Amino acid sequence: MKGLILSGGKGTRLYPLTYTRAKQLIPVANKPVLVRVIEAIRDAGVEEIGVVVGQTAPEIREALGDGSRWQVKLTYIPQDSPDGLAHAVKIARPFLGDAPFVMFLGDNVIQGGISNLIRDFAGSDWNSQIVLKEVPNPAAYGVAVLRPDGSIERLIEKPPVPPSNLALVGIYMFDHHIFDAVHAIKPSARGELEITDAIQWLIEHGYRVYPHVHQGWWIDTGKATDMLDANSHVLEEITPTIAPDASIDNSQVDARVTLQSGAKVINSVIRGPTIIGVNTVIENSYVGPFTSIYSGVRVQNCEIERCIILENSEIIDIDLLLRDSIIGRDASLRRDSARPRGLKLNLGDHSKIWI
Ligand code: TTP
Repeated sequence: MKGLILSGGKGTRLYPLTYTRAKQLIPVANKPVLVRVIEAIRDAGVEEIGVVVGQTAPEIREALGDGSRWQVKLTYIPQDSPDGLAHAVKIARPFLGDAPFVMFLGDNVIQGGISNLIRDFAGSDWNSQIVLKEVPNPAAYGVAVLRPDGSIERLIEKPPVPPSNLALVGIYMFDHHIFDAVHAIKPSARGELEITDAIQWLIEHGYRVYPHVHQGWWIDTGKATDMLDANSHVLEEITPTIAPDASIDNSQVDARVTLQSGAKVINSVIRGPTIIGVNTVIENSYVGPFTSIYSGVRVQNCEIERCIILENSEIIDIDLLLRDSIIGRDASLRRDSARPRGLKLNLGDHSKIWI
């Protein structure tokens, strides 16, 4: 069994963060989503993993290296342009050979890992197994229709009248017949080789495609609100730890807070689940639940709740509660006391501000 992680794409829905960073490297609970994907595949016993990369390849290679830090062997597979998930499978053939494989979208986070799924597939004579999840709004997803014997009969992309509430999650298992499918299909109206068309091809040619209905949470971190949701879910599950060299001075830090190495909390209140990153300093502030503050950040005289703050940023003297926000790297948010009073903004393209 091999692994295939899709980590190309453009990430347009996460602009402006993804102008300067691969979306799969944005951290959730202070760990990049892509690292969480690698760990899930490794924990299921798969060590040889191909990573499909696009224009952000240099940054991804630098962050992951050869994978030895996570006891896996990574092979990078460059994709010239994001021509679809089935196109990514097509170009991964030299790496995958005839081995069965699990394909995982590099921006997805799933509760409980994928060990069960891999065990089911390995012990079956199925040609493919697709992870599905019951969702309240199936019209927004690819939706599956099942036969009475439990196998998949049909997949429909974003149906206006959904025939079921079973949506496709970004995790798939295939044997080598998928290569016949990705070569047979044609690009869709949006110009991409769609994985749903390739799976439909397998079904129509008599191959056995079965579902695995996932019971826990699952989040596709395509948009900013999804990142915040994923962050909240993961924070609820991590076991809180206080690094030996973190310091707490005249502050209330509850039992669900993680302080990473060198973090300093001074005259502040921190309510978990929350994580404060390496060498980050929180002073005269309140940091509320579901907040992840990455490394080297300075928070002073502020109140923050349910936010993701990336590395080396500063948030200083803001007298409004900062909530449900994502702040990028090296950002500065400060009160300015100069007259006349007003907003002074220096924003990148596609930035969004709510006042
Ligand atoms: P998407 O979220 O469908 O696409 P995207 O990353 O380009 O984002 P947006 O729609 O906001 O522009 O991609 C899902 C995952 O698959 C993501 O990790 C990127 C990856 N991917 C590839 O590796 N190659 C591709 O050709 C495509 C379309 C996506």
